[in-house]
Parts: sequence; structure tokens; C-alpha cells
Amino acid sequence: MKISKRLQAIADIISDKSTVIDVGCDHALLDIYLATYKDCQCIATDINENALEQAKYNIKRFGIKNIQTVLTDGLNGIDVKPNDIVVISGMGATTIEHILANKPVSNKVIISAHNDWDHLRKTVTSLGYKISSEQFIIDKGKGYIIIEFVKGKSTYSDQELLYGPYLINNQNYLNSLYQGIKEIYDEIPDDNIEKANKKKRLDEIQSLLSKLN
Ligand SMILES: C[S@@+](CC[C@H](N)C(=O)[O-])C[C@H]1O[C@@H](n2cnc3c(N)ncnc32)[C@H](O)[C@@H]1O
Repeated sequence: MKISKRLQAIADIISDKSTVIDVGCDHALLDIYLATYKDCQCIATDINENALEQAKYNIKRFGIKNIQTVLTDGLNGIDVKPNDIVVISGMGATTIEHILANKPVSNKVIISAHNDWDHLRKTVTSLGYKISSEQFIIDKGKGYIIIEFVKGKSTYSDQELLYGPYLINNQNYLNSLYQGIKEIYDEIPDDNIEKANKKKRLDEIQSLLSKLN
């Protein structure tokens, strides 16, 4: 079974025989992969009825038994145990923060958000987590960040929260970030204040990159 590079990167950091709660499972392909190849027990949840129906259809199609499906908002009604791994992937940062703020969750949370990573790092670490790994992957031409949070304390500088304590040393990530900001910078008129802000950001990324060479 082939899953996207992004979902594969998430699956790769989940140990065999884990219990996984996949919040916003949609198609449930991650759960099907984990149940099939890693002997995981999965709880696949989604807020959207149609998405969950698709998940159920796929689970049946693959003949999987150890995936439970639940229609719910975030983790509402889910009995999360400390050793469960919570995966929240493919959503905006605000939705993810809403899901985490509503309930104490497990020792390990794997997050792949669309946006606002700095805010998300700040929020999740303030809930009593530290960052144990960060990955940047490019899947079908689009960049994705995957962060693994584990229970614990750590203090991060503003720059580490902005770029990521691991990704701040990742050349591919910094280059991709630079390119994205440069494209926006090039479109901003010279007399616009935002141009100076973007220039500051580009200089900062360049300085981080120069330290890696
Ligand atoms: C883009 S899909 C991502 C699917 C999969 N997790 C992935 O990474 O490929 C986002 C899914 O999250 C679900 N979702 C959005 N908000 C949610 C919430 N508060 N609770 C549960 N599921 C939610 C949506 O219905 C949708 O199926």
C-alpha cells in the first residue's frame, strides 16, 4: 500500500504496536497503513460525517479490523491514555490549538499543520510539551512540517519558536522558506512598509544559512 510522502513521514515516527488516535482522519489512509504494516491499534476520528463514511469504506475495503471510527470534534468523548499517540495532521493551526486546548492529551502528539508554526510551537509547549523532532518534507512540490511533541519542559528562544529548534539548522527548510518569502517580497511595491519587514526576514534567514555552510 502506498501513502503520500507526508503521511509516510508521520507513519515512520510511530513505533510498531502503538495505539494511535488520528484526529481528522478523513480517508483514514494513515490508520490503514499503521494497522496493516505496524500492527497499531487506531482510533480514527473526524468531525465530518462524509469524511468518516469514506474512512469506514476504506477500512472495510482493506479488510482491517483494529481501527475504531468516531464522529466527533477533536478529542471530545475519546478516552485518551498517556501512552496513546495523538496525530493531528492536515489542519490549520487554530483548529489544532482548539483540539488540544479542549482536553488533556497523551505523552506524545504528532502535528502537521498548514500554517502559523511559530504560534503553534508556543501554544503546544505552553501546555507542557517539548519538541522531540521536526521534519521538513516536500511532497508533490509542496513543503510540509511535521513536529513530534512529547511531555516535558524546554525553553525556546523567539527564533527557535519561529523557525523550529531543529529546522533552524535544516538547509532545505531554510532555503524553501527563503524562496517563498522572496517571491512575496518581489511583488511588494518599494514604498510599502511590508517590504522592509520581508527584507529583514530574508536577511535573517540568509544569516542562519551562512552559519550552516
Ligand atoms: C485535510 S484533511 C486531513 C486528513 C489527514 N489527517 C491527512 O493529514 O491527510 C482534514 C480533516 O480534518 C477534519 N477536521 C477538521 N476539523 C476537525 C475537528 N475539530 N475535529 C475532527 N476533525 C476535524 C476534516 O473534516 C478533514 O477530514
